Amino acid sequence: MRTQVVIIGGGPSGLLLGQLLHTQGIEAVVLERKTRDYVLGRIRAGILERGTVSLMHKAGVGARLEAEGFVHDGTILSYGDDDFTINFKEHTGTSVVVYGQTEVTRDLYDAREAAGLPTVFNAQEVQIHGADSDSAHVTYEVDGQTHRMDCDFIAGCDGFHGISRQTIPLTVRKEYEKVYPFGWLGILSETPPVNDELIYAASERGFALCSMRNKNLSRYYIQCALTDTVEDWSDAAFWEELKRRIPKAHADKLVTGPSIEKSIAPLRSFVTEPMRWGRLFLCGDAAHIVPPTGAKGLNTAASDIHYLFEGLKAHYLEGDSAALDAYSEKALARVWKAERFSWWMTSLLHRFPDMSPADLRLQQADLDYLFASEAAQTSLAENYVGLPY
Ligand code: APR
Ligand code: PHB
Repeated sequence: MRTQVVIIGGGPSGLLLGQLLHTQGIEAVVLERKTRDYVLGRIRAGILERGTVSLMHKAGVGARLEAEGFVHDGTILSYGDDDFTINFKEHTGTSVVVYGQTEVTRDLYDAREAAGLPTVFNAQEVQIHGADSDSAHVTYEVDGQTHRMDCDFIAGCDGFHGISRQTIPLTVRKEYEKVYPFGWLGILSETPPVNDELIYAASERGFALCSMRNKNLSRYYIQCALTDTVEDWSDAAFWEELKRRIPKAHADKLVTGPSIEKSIAPLRSFVTEPMRWGRLFLCGDAAHIVPPTGAKGLNTAASDIHYLFEGLKAHYLEGDSAALDAYSEKALARVWKAERFSWWMTSLLHRFPDMSPADLRLQQADLDYLFASEAAQTSLAENYVGLPY
């Protein structure tokens, strides 16, 4: 079999690329190791930058997001009982949209199915061959049978644990990593969100985040030790700790209830360079990970897809490969800025186990500066709503 672009991974990166290519009549096959239900069972962040929203519209999948997403013009940051709104709209003229990544992925799968585009689920043992040659192809197994797909290009959209990145030889690949000494314990509960806007809360007991999916579905997180397990945290203990980390005025209003999901995620900053090797292009979590503070994961994946899509479009429709050749450089320039922002917001709001009194004072000064300076607020806002592509 032959296609123009093989997309490895049916997460948001791979699916968004598939839909965008389809709008230009460029053929692609998605190879996904799991099933659609498995992919849709994952709970991830839920903040979309303006650029991500535009890409969804461009891909023809913006209708439900437009109808059901919540536009947020700002966010609250708090320290102890002091809270403070950063108004994105005022500082940048732009907002963000609250719409879960699960819903983004569902819309993309629905559109892919409606258009009859090929997706191979349960694709095992996916391997990339000849990425640095003119005879690139991918092999994979379904039900024990090996298949081969020849192609012009391969988009490695298979997440952090995928095989695409590993295909790039270590003589070419350079990886940068920073692991944080804590995790986020998150719960989903069918309760009304404590506040209309998100609350990013710093406190002496550690960080907490109040987020949401809709009017009766809340998403809350607290910073926890890396050694903690979900079993260590009853719902009651979670709510109690959350209340102690957010301003009292909000804690008093917090509606609690049983959790319908509870999980712990470690925090990491990771980038691999380059993001292209021959005919293989890495996108999204396959190439980089950010800590979730600032919700840049999905949005940075989307900006990669923008650059790759524009490159492939110019290549196929105009015979011009310049944008494709610039992919790695352009994508990485934006990726590193998202990495910087996520690292900075993480450092600003969390308690690190080894913080000295001087570190604490410096962190407090960083917060005080932000609360007092329009320039600092504009900087946070422009990064939060998303830097231009
Ligand atoms: N073969 C085929 N598919 C694979 C393989 C493989 N060897 N390995 C992984 N996959 C699939 C996974 O099952 C998953 O569905 O690739 C997909 C990768 O999806 P994600 O991990 O969601 O990555 P991506 O699409 O880049 O989305 C980035 O997800 O983790 C968040 O914060 C991140 O929001 C960002 C978004
Ligand atoms: C979420 O709603 O899950 C969420 C929101 C903002 C973040 C991280 C996660 O920074």
